[in-house]
Amino acid sequence: MEIRKVCVLGAGIMGAGIAQALAEAGYSVSLRDIEDRFVRAGLDGIKKNLDRAVSKGKMDRNTADAVIQRIKGTVDLKQAAADADLVIEAVIENMDVKKTVFRELDELCPPQTIFASNTSGLSITEMASVTRRPQKVIGMHFFNPVPVMKLVELIRGFLTDDETFESAKAVVEAVGKIPVEVKEAPGFAVNRILCPMVNEAIFVYSEGIASAEDIDRAMTLGANHPIGPLALADMVGLDTLLFVLEGLHRELGEAKYRPAPLLRKMVRAGYLGRKSGKGFYEYA
Ligand code: CAA
Repeated sequence: MEIRKVCVLGAGIMGAGIAQALAEAGYSVSLRDIEDRFVRAGLDGIKKNLDRAVSKGKMDRNTADAVIQRIKGTVDLKQAAADADLVIEAVIENMDVKKTVFRELDELCPPQTIFASNTSGLSITEMASVTRRPQKVIGMHFFNPVPVMKLVELIRGFLTDDETFESAKAVVEAVGKIPVEVKEAPGFAVNRILCPMVNEAIFVYSEGIASAEDIDRAMTLGANHPIGPLALADMVGLDTLLFVLEGLHRELGEAKYRPAPLLRKMVRAGYLGRKSGKGFYEYA
């Protein structure tokens, strides 16, 4: 099935990044959030990214203007989703919220519309179970920052059919990213591997083995990671990291996934990383 119009639900960092990538590839995009100020913040972030690309000479002004014109911001779910060929949800990481969204979409959209979730590790099968089209539900997991990161994990739920998989794969390739196929499992492939590594760095830090700067220096220079694990935790968001680890720990039941107590404490104190201005480092 050819995808022309895409609806992205949630105009936060991930949703806005996905909308930008799609619009740059020529898709007509509706970007929906529940409040006008969230929609505006998402569109402003996209404009800033495009302006930066223009000032660096990576995009011309006409192209940037055409990209932004392809994105229609709205708070109206029906208007955003009813005529979309593909809906990608990037709302908060909460199964009940995602199920509510999918139930509403199932009423609004024609039976052929594909529903995708950008969840960082929740069950696609469970989300699909509240719709009458579980074969047309798939995981499309983008990475932060979306404009830069090349990977998209494509996650098959228990009932996802081949046609849905191939349509989603074609979209990923059209936006210039590389898909990997992953069977449904907690944290999928990347977060299953990445988040325990970052968690271990937090244990190392909390045990006083090395300073935050030295842990990050060690992993950038000693393992060639682009940024250190504690800087990465701040970038991903400590609350998101904790959420992924709790999911791995709960579903896989092994002690190796236990979140570091310091991570819990920091999240409770509102130290969420870049988005709150404070995490392992401070941000102006
Ligand atoms: N939006 C758009 N572009 C961005 C950006 C953003 N948020 N952040 C950085 N960039 C661009 C910069 O503009 C710059 O572009 P040019 O090369 O055209 O100048 C380029 O990226 C490099 O940026 P910087 O030189 O400022 O910084 P850097 O060298 O440290 O690179 C980075 C930034 C690409 C983000 C790099 O630090 C990196 O790869 N970090 C690791 C990212 C990562 O692991 N992400 C996965 C997180 S896990 C996840 O997302 C899954 C989940 O479910 C939790």
